[in-house]
Amino acid sequence: MALGVPALPLTYVAHVLALVASILVVLWVLNFRGGLAWDSDNKALIFNLHPVLIVIGLLVLGGEAIISYKALPLKKEVKKLIHLVFHAIALILGIVGIYTAFKYHNESGIANLYSLHSWLGIGVIVLYGIQWIYGFVIFFFPGGTPDIRRASLPWHALFGLFVFVLAVGTAALGFLEKLTFLENSGLDKYGSEALLVNFTAIITVLFGAFVVLSALADAPPAPAADDYEAI
Ligand code: HEM
Repeated sequence: MALGVPALPLTYVAHVLALVASILVVLWVLNFRGGLAWDSDNKALIFNLHPVLIVIGLLVLGGEAIISYKALPLKKEVKKLIHLVFHAIALILGIVGIYTAFKYHNESGIANLYSLHSWLGIGVIVLYGIQWIYGFVIFFFPGGTPDIRRASLPWHALFGLFVFVLAVGTAALGFLEKLTFLENSGLDKYGSEALLVNFTAIITVLFGAFVVLSALADAPPAPAADDYEAI
């Protein structure tokens, strides 16, 4: 499916939204939540790693991996490598990000996996992992037959977008859940922190929308180097 509009301007908007979402989530945990720590007596600092690693790692890097095919004027083989490496880093940071939520829960004596957010979160990371391994085996190494690759490509693209959209939705639920916990503990519902958290979630959703639009829009023409190689 192609939208019939050029992808490049849409990818610029996605980059800007990615930058804004990353800055906002870091600003939130540093300015309002006391900062970040892997080990601390203040267990909340361990939790703070969760949204930061997930937003910057899984969502921003994962989204950039998706649109790299539409954003970079490079040869197909180079773009494929960038796509799979960015997704690998996104997946690893996503796994570490989820681990920090478990670490926080375990060290604070809080139950695990009780919420819809956490169930969808496990679904997201499992599907992301399956998608990455399938893509690696079929499109990179050892690589499927041309028939298998051709048949797999639309499903790879569709499934990849589905997992990405599910990840963005799960992150929105996470922001909602955390803010609700904070508001139930007395945080001002219309205060600056509440506005910042909601605004960060909205920027994240907008980023997701522009990643999907970019993925469905038309890729820029192949660079001259490709033509040269073909000769
Ligand atoms: C795709 C994005 C995300 C995934 C895959 C994800 C995954 C998870 C998982 C698996 C847990 C369960 C940990 C446990 O039970 O010990 C969890 C907990 C939590 N996450 Fe996320 N998360 C995501 C984004 C976010 C974001 C952006 C926030 C914003 C603050 C957030 C807030 C929370 C909160 C408050 C908890 C603890 C309460 C609960 O278990 O539901 N999450 N997350």
